[in-house]
Amino acid sequence: MSENVKDLLSLKDKVAVITGGAGWLGSAMTEALAEAGARTVVVDCNAEAVKQVCERLAKKELSVTGVTADVMQEDSIRKSIDQIAEDCGRIDVLVNGVVVPAAADLDHVTMENFEKGYRNSGAYAIACQQCVKHMRKVGEGSIINIASMYGMVTSYPKVYEGVSDPCPVTYCADKAGVIHMTRFMAVYWAKDKIRVNSISPGAFPNREKMEYANNPKMDLFLERLAEKSPLGRVGQPWELKGAVVFLASRAASFLTGQNIVVDGGWTIW
Ligand SMILES: NC(=O)c1ccc[n+]([C@@H]2O[C@H](COP(=O)([O-])OP(=O)(O)OC[C@H]3O[C@@H](n4cnc5c(N)ncnc54)[C@H](O)[C@@H]3O)[C@@H](O)[C@H]2O)c1
Repeated sequence: MSENVKDLLSLKDKVAVITGGAGWLGSAMTEALAEAGARTVVVDCNAEAVKQVCERLAKKELSVTGVTADVMQEDSIRKSIDQIAEDCGRIDVLVNGVVVPAAADLDHVTMENFEKGYRNSGAYAIACQQCVKHMRKVGEGSIINIASMYGMVTSYPKVYEGVSDPCPVTYCADKAGVIHMTRFMAVYWAKDKIRVNSISPGAFPNREKMEYANNPKMDLFLERLAEKSPLGRVGQPWELKGAVVFLASRAASFLTGQNIVVDGGWTIW
């Protein structure tokens, strides 16, 4: 097998599945997997967004199709993944990127909020379990769980003061769980030659999202986010493309159980 770096990074002949692949960061990662050569299947509950991402990438002659499904429902994710494996003949790569927020501050958080928060990592685990069945048939695979810098450090209060709600405790707990669950999975499935890694994005705010778009203090909030990062700015979705393709590809064949932090340096000081 070629050790040329372009061949190592290629996903030609691979099938990649990405949950939440029609979202703000998901659609950039979908594009990256397809640009690297993978036949890429987006699984997302937003049918309109799925249609849009598929149409946009088809114009670039990329191989992207979509499945509309609710990955928080166990039956739905299991059936979708089996259907994708049947349609595409194999699954080589899974990116888990869905998030369903469960906002509540620590003084008011309920058991129900936590159940909703942890359902996110449950959905990641079921998608992994289901894809692993098909990866075993291929003989190897790569799984990438999207975590967050807020699974490593806590929500930084001064950034949010007077301008936005802080990141909720349920989110931080879930994302810390995703990073550690990734290590557990990496050990558990190593015997099957399945690598499992996570990516922890830093601040990649989406200005169009309702809670940001309706916020009159948005500019101040963005300024503070930028200041907190050593690189002095927030991230753009395309800045995750390299990490996801690297982890999905043979270029990362000796890398498992790791958490790649793409945060402009937020977590280093
Ligand atoms: N944006 C950031 O600043 C940031 C920072 C750190 C980590 N992250 C992580 O990156 C990932 C993507 O975040 P984003 O900002 O792109 O979010 P987003 O809300 O733009 O995208 C999430 C996608 O998941 C889909 N989705 C939601 N519930 C679903 C369900 N039940 N079934 C199927 N699909 C469902 C949505 O339709 C959407 O397309 C998340 O895991 C998030 O926690 C984001």
